[in-house]
Amino acid sequence: MPPVIINLKTIPNMELPFAESWRIKMIEPIRKSTREEREQWLREADYNVFQLKAEQVYIDLLTDSGTGAMSDRQWSAMMVGDESYAGAKSFFHMKDMISSLTGFGYVVPTHQGRAAENVLFSALVKEGDIVPGNSHFDTTKGHIESRHAFAVDCTIDEARDTALEHPFKGSVDIAKLEAVLEKDAARVPFIIVTVTNNTAGGQPVSMENLRQVRRLADRYGKRVVFDSARFAENAYFIKTREEGYAGHTIKEIVREMFSLADAMTMSAKKDGLVNMGGFIATRHQDWFEGAKRFVIPFEGYLTYGGMNGRDMEALAVGLDENTEFDNLETRIHQVQYLAARLDEFGIPYQRPAGGHAIFIDASKVLTKVPKEEFPAQTLTVELYREAGIRGCEIGYILADRDPVTRENRFGGLDLMRLAIPRRTYTDNHMDVIAVALKNVYDRRESITRGVKIIWEAPLMRHFTVKLAPACD
Ligand code: F0G
Repeated sequence: MPPVIINLKTIPNMELPFAESWRIKMIEPIRKSTREEREQWLREADYNVFQLKAEQVYIDLLTDSGTGAMSDRQWSAMMVGDESYAGAKSFFHMKDMISSLTGFGYVVPTHQGRAAENVLFSALVKEGDIVPGNSHFDTTKGHIESRHAFAVDCTIDEARDTALEHPFKGSVDIAKLEAVLEKDAARVPFIIVTVTNNTAGGQPVSMENLRQVRRLADRYGKRVVFDSARFAENAYFIKTREEGYAGHTIKEIVREMFSLADAMTMSAKKDGLVNMGGFIATRHQDWFEGAKRFVIPFEGYLTYGGMNGRDMEALAVGLDENTEFDNLETRIHQVQYLAARLDEFGIPYQRPAGGHAIFIDASKVLTKVPKEEFPAQTLTVELYREAGIRGCEIGYILADRDPVTRENRFGGLDLMRLAIPRRTYTDNHMDVIAVALKNVYDRRESITRGVKIIWEAPLMRHFTVKLAPACD
């Protein structure tokens, strides 16, 4: 059938199309490369995109962490940063913003999210403990396991089926959580809920689910920590998907979310809209006292904890801006725009599109590549080879080896994450990404071999692993 061409001129009172809620004041040139150059750079990087130089990348989707663009308000706030060692004005600006958004009165700054985990968990987690949650992020899990404690994943099963549409695929399975508490409550120092759930695909957790976790925690006398790296995106999904929240502002929703928690760890590099920074916030003095003991030796004095005064100023403004609907709508719209382009080409990804990224289901794309040859890593290499676009494997290489058997862990999903930095690329870049991926998708049947490991570190191997084409 020929395409139907609608004559737009005949439609009265057309709805205005969507556009960004900001305009661009400063730009950073990026450079394309040739396929020959990329082949050479891949070899030099041992087929691990972490080892590429950033200037060898055209569109960088490695992470949305610390890679966003700050606003004019944030840059101007940096000029009034107070760099006093103790009691800086900038700390109090940041603290007041955090307290007004979350209701938490105690704030401990840290240099980034994993440092917040390190400080808080040093006070709370001991050998043999069990910390249940929803797909703990790697650093969160690392900080639990390095203390010889256990991270138990209680994410809903729906998250494992990438084709399934579910509005809150990041949620906690209350029955699984209850089973852990029922059996081992004495060993549980707290429950951790990651909003949004990064590992499951940037998928949100509903307010109802947060409420259920709270009720269960109360029944067992347990406290709840939110890993809040993408809390604002989570609030956006509550507003747009959960019954009863359409009329609420993002700030009201954020306040209600945190009313259901006892504390938060924060990587400010995501929803704080800054390039570096983090914090712990809590309503409990005993947890604050515990964190105080460790922040000073690990991070720095209580009113800077590894952050510059100017960065705390920028964070205060970033938190304010990113809890406004227009900013979040622009951001999530772009991720959904990319998803819609991939739908046109039938490319499988974790559905629905997440808040910060699209997670391509590599096992459904490179069906000929055996799992022992790492399909998601192979797809990551192919996308870079195609167009200089850097994604990130969230799959079998990242999963590391079983600590006891030393076998590769092939039990989870094998995904390639395309993380979209905030306020950085335009929808034209999204078109380039979609078409590049389509080109790889079109030749997927011809890709039958993946990569093999030449060298790997014993833990967190994905950063430094050396790979080679499996057929060599
Ligand atoms: N929690 C979540 C949910 C995260 O996604 C991250 C980082 C952290 C904690 C740790 O924060 O990087 O500031 O130390 N995620 C980045 C990513 C690295 O690419 O997803 P950090």
